[in-house]
Order: sequence, then C-alpha cells, then structure tokens
Amino acid sequence: MTGSSGASGPSGGTVNRLRPRRSCLAVPGSNPRFLEKAQGLPADQVFLDLEDACAPLAKEGARHTIVEALNEGDWGGKTRVVRVNDWTTHWTYRDVITVVEGAGQNLDCVMLPKVQDAQQVHALDLLLTQIEKTVGLQVGRIGIEAQLENARGLVNVDEIAAASPRLEALIFGPADFMASINMKTLVVGEQPPGYPADAYHYILMRILMAARAHDLQAIDGPYLQIRNVDGYREVARRAAALGFDGKWVLHPGQVEASNEIFSPSQEDYDHAELILDAYEYFTSEAGGRKGSAMIGDEMIDEASRKMALVVAGKGRAAGL
Ligand code: GLV
Ligand code: MG
Repeated sequence: MTGSSGASGPSGGTVNRLRPRRSCLAVPGSNPRFLEKAQGLPADQVFLDLEDACAPLAKEGARHTIVEALNEGDWGGKTRVVRVNDWTTHWTYRDVITVVEGAGQNLDCVMLPKVQDAQQVHALDLLLTQIEKTVGLQVGRIGIEAQLENARGLVNVDEIAAASPRLEALIFGPADFMASINMKTLVVGEQPPGYPADAYHYILMRILMAARAHDLQAIDGPYLQIRNVDGYREVARRAAALGFDGKWVLHPGQVEASNEIFSPSQEDYDHAELILDAYEYFTSEAGGRKGSAMIGDEMIDEASRKMALVVAGKGRAAGL
C-alpha cells in the first residue's frame, strides 16, 4: 500500500488510493453468469471487462450488461472497476460514456489498458469530468487504473504515473507486454526458455518505482495457467516480495491464494506491531528518548519503524 490515502482532483473529488487490491478478479462483461458468480467470491476488487475478454461483436451488448450488473448486483464492498478498450480502438469513448452515464454512482474506477503516454490518461480524465458534470456525479471521485502493456508505455511510465490525480494504480499486463517486446514464450507469467534469470524483474521494478514515486498502488497482471495454482502462487510470491500490492485473478481457485500471498503472515504482522509499540516507547520521555533500541537480537530505529508500518498497514487492512 502507499503512503497517502487520497488525491484531490482539480474539481475537489478525492479518489481512494488505499483500497485493498490483493486480488483483482477479471470478469468478462459479456457473460451474465460470470458477472453473477463473481459477486460471491472473496476478491478485493472485481473488474468487468470490455476489452480482451469480450469479443468485438459482443462489446456493445456488454456495455449494457455491465451497467445492469453494477446497478443491480450485490458487490459486497468490493472495489468495482470496468476495463474499457484502449484509445487506439474506436470503442473507448462509447465504453466510458455508456458505463459512467449508466452506472457512475456504482463504479469506483475505470481501468485503461495499453496506456502509452500521459495524454491517454488526460483524455480519459477529461471525458470522466464532463460526464460527471453532465449527470451530476461528484467530480473527480471515479479513479483510473493504468495498465502498462507495451514498450512505449514502460518507457513513459513516470509521466503516466504523474498524469492525473484520479490515478490509483499501475498494472502490469504481461500477455500484451510479452507480445509487444517479442519475448520468446507463449506461456504468460512463466520465464521464457533460454534466459537464465528472471525476465520480468526489470519490468516489475520499473512499474513499482514509478508507482511508489507517485503514491500509487502496483498490481501484477494475470497468470493464464488457471488450473496450476502452485504456479500462480510462485509468480504471485515474486511480485509480493518486491512490494506489489496485489495480482489479477482469473479463476476462483486463485482468489484465496492471492489474498493470502499479498497479506503479511500472522507472525510478520505481530512482529511489526511489536516493533511499532517498542519504537513508541523507547523514543518517548519515559523510554529514555532513544533513537534506537534492541528487541531480542534485533536493533530497531526509525527505518525499522517505516518498514513495520508497511507490514502493519497491510495486516490491519487484511483484518489480522
Ligand atoms: C493483461 O491485460 C495482459 O495483457 O496481460
Ligand atoms: Mg492486455
């Protein structure tokens, strides 16, 4: 999670950058049965997809199916997101207008895929502002999630991360990304054969740095071998270890794994709370106004407090 809880837009609305996003469930917007089923799953976020999980001929109908599902479904406190089509298609503006005019009050964020530069985020921000004003929604409340899915997007990731106060999260899109850079594999999330190290490390770190520099969340994308939960766990652990806040889930079997992996263990959480309590005491008048102290064999100081705050924050959000 990030350090600030909200960002004020030019017109006063505030997005929530601290929503839990350990598990972000993809649901094809054209499939009412999946839209129904998704409501009962314990994912932190659900995103109703108008992009790649929706066939071109089904997109128009899916906009209306999504509006109905947002307005009439029981999403039980999940963050509700719609992924629209990217700006290089002819679908984007109509996706945004139909969904936000029809269900803006029941929508938390719009996810923009294949973002290439800051202007694409500005364009979405402006369109959202006009719709909010027209239909009487609070201006600036609907957030934006930006998907990084190609080389140009990654090269411009810093300007993208700074492009709008509506931004809440940067998301890695491995499938499109691998295609965009000609990576030699067809198995999304797995290492390309022939490369002896982690081929995703640079990309993940680049996205994470831009996200953290702008107080955004960083989310890892899908793992497509949906029956291989062990494989999912391994890839998710890699992103969680670096500091990512969550990962996409494509299948009910991945939801619990993601929630667990992106929450601290009970032991780590308890230890973090212990460090915070100890720090508060030894820096106080009664504790001797010390800058550092020992807990068992471990020396802790102000930097330890910051690390403990991250773990404790995630643990509290996960209800530990
Ligand atoms: C997700 O959209 C991906 O391309 O991996
Ligand atoms: Mg993609």
